[in-house]
Amino acid sequence: MTDSAISQLQNRADQCANYLLDSKSVLCISHIDADGLTSAAIATQAIQRANIPLETAFSKRLGEPELKQLTKTDHETILFTDFGSGQIEKIIEYSEKGNFNPIICDHHQPSIAPSSNSHTLIDLDFHLNPLLFEIDGASELSGAGTCYFLARALESGSVDNRDLASLAVVGAIGDMQARDKGLIGPNKIIAQEGVDKGVLDIKLDLAFYGKQTRPLPKLLEYSSEFGIPSISNNPSGSIRFLKNLDIDVRENGKWKFWVDLSHSDKKAIVNELVKHAISRGLSIDKISSFISPVYELTQELSGTALREATEFSTILNATARYGRPDVGLSICLGNRNKSLTRAKNLLAVHRKNLAEGIGLLNREGVVMEENFQWFHAQDKIRDTIVGIVAGMVLGMDGTDPNKPIFAFAKTEEGDLKVSSRGTPILVKNGLNLSEVMRISAEHVGGEGGGHDIAAGATIPLQTEKLFLEQIKTTLELQLYNSSS
Ligand code: C5P
Ligand code: C5P
Ligand code: ZN
Repeated sequence: MTDSAISQLQNRADQCANYLLDSKSVLCISHIDADGLTSAAIATQAIQRANIPLETAFSKRLGEPELKQLTKTDHETILFTDFGSGQIEKIIEYSEKGNFNPIICDHHQPSIAPSSNSHTLIDLDFHLNPLLFEIDGASELSGAGTCYFLARALESGSVDNRDLASLAVVGAIGDMQARDKGLIGPNKIIAQEGVDKGVLDIKLDLAFYGKQTRPLPKLLEYSSEFGIPSISNNPSGSIRFLKNLDIDVRENGKWKFWVDLSHSDKKAIVNELVKHAISRGLSIDKISSFISPVYELTQELSGTALREATEFSTILNATARYGRPDVGLSICLGNRNKSLTRAKNLLAVHRKNLAEGIGLLNREGVVMEENFQWFHAQDKIRDTIVGIVAGMVLGMDGTDPNKPIFAFAKTEEGDLKVSSRGTPILVKNGLNLSEVMRISAEHVGGEGGGHDIAAGATIPLQTEKLFLEQIKTTLELQLYNSSS
C-alpha cells in the first residue's frame, strides 16, 4: 500500500460521494454478515448526516433474482455495500432495465481481475474497491472500511464522520482481516482515526476470544486456535491451571472475568501461560501470538459483548446470518434494550450451532484429496454459517492446515452453498479461492466469488461431483503456475 494508492481510493470515494449527493433518494443494500452490517451502518449514518433520503436493506445473495427485484425500486440510486464488485456487469445490465444509478462500495474481487488488461468494465467511476488501487481487499481493507472512506468523502460543514471508525474496525475484525500484529494498511489508518476521535482504544493484551464475557476457565478452555496442551479444549486442565496460580481468580464464589483483573494479575497469568506453553513444547510463533493488539470501543461498557471488536462482530453475525439483519443494524446504530436482548438470544443459538457443526466434523472428518480437503454437511449445518465452521476446523486435528478446505451445505432455497477457506501461506503460493469458486461454479451452472483466502458459491443440487473435479483442475493450475 502506498500513499498514492490511498489518495486514488479517496478520489474515487469523492466521485462516489458526489453521485450520492446528487441523488434524490438512495437505497443502500448490503450483505448479511458482520462486515455487511457495519458497512450498511456506516453508509446509512453518513448519508443521513448528508441529509439524503435513504432506505437500508439486506440480501443474502446478489444473483439475478435479487437484481431483478431491485429493478422495481423507486429510489434514484442504489448503493451496494460489501458486495457488488463480483456482479458488476449484471448490476449495470439491471440498472438500465430498472432505471436506477448504481454505486458499488465493496472489497471483493471484481468480476474481471484488476491484473487483466481489460480494465474498462470494472474501473468505472461509481465503483469504489481497494483492489482497483492495489490495496488488498482480503487483509488491508474491509467492506466497512471502504464505506468509511465513502463516509469521510460525504462530510461537509461541521460533519465529522470519524466516530464511524469503530464500526469499520468491527467489520474488518469480523472479516478476519487482523493479523498477529493487528490491523494493517488502510484498516490501521482507520483504527488510528478512531483513537484520535476517542471512540477506540488499542492496547496489547491477551489475544484469546471472550475477555469481556467468558469466565476465566472458559476463556482458557476455548483457546483452541492456540492449541495449548492441557488447557485448550480441556475444562479440568484450565481450572487446574487457574487454581495453581497465586492470584484471586474468584470473587464472591464466582469466577472472575479477564476484564475484572488488575494489570499485575493479567501480567502474572500471561507469564504463567507462556511458561506452561514453553514447557509443553509449543512453538515460539504460537506463543508470541498469545498477545496482540486488541480493539475496544470506548463508548461501550466494559464487560459487555459490545466492548471488544471481536465479540461485537460475533453478535452481528448471530443476527444477520439468522435472518435478522435489522436487529444487528439497530445495534450498530446505537439502539440497545430490545435489540440487544434479541441479539443475545440469537447469539446463544449461533454458539450452539457452531459447537454442533464442529462436533459433526470431529465425528465424521473431512475427505482428503491430493491438493484440497472437503466435507458435505447436507442440512446439518446452516448454509449461512458453514463457511465459519470450515474456517474454524481448518488446522484442527483431522484436517490438513496446508490444504484449502471446501464445505457444502443445502440451502433453504433448494440449492447448494459451497464455502472455502485457505491460509496466508497458500495464498502466497498462488491460491486464489475467488477464482476457484467462480470458475467451478460457472462450470456447473452456479455463481461464486469472494476473496483469494475465503470465497463462496451457490450451485445446483447434485452437481458436487463435477464441481469437485473442476476445483481440482483449477487448483492444480494455480499451484503449478506459481511454482513454475
Ligand atoms: O463477504 P465478506 O467479505 O464480508 O466475508 C469475508 C469472509 O471471509 C468472512 O466470513 C471471513 O471470516 C472470511 N475470511 C477468512 N480468513 C481471512 C479473511 C477472511 O476466513 N483471512
Ligand atoms: O459465505 P462464505 O462465508 O463462505 O463467503 C466467503 C466469501 O465469499 C465472502 O466474502 C462472501 O461474500 C463471498 N462470496 C461471494 N460470492 C458468492 C458466495 C460468497 O463473493 N456467491
Ligand atoms: Zn466483507
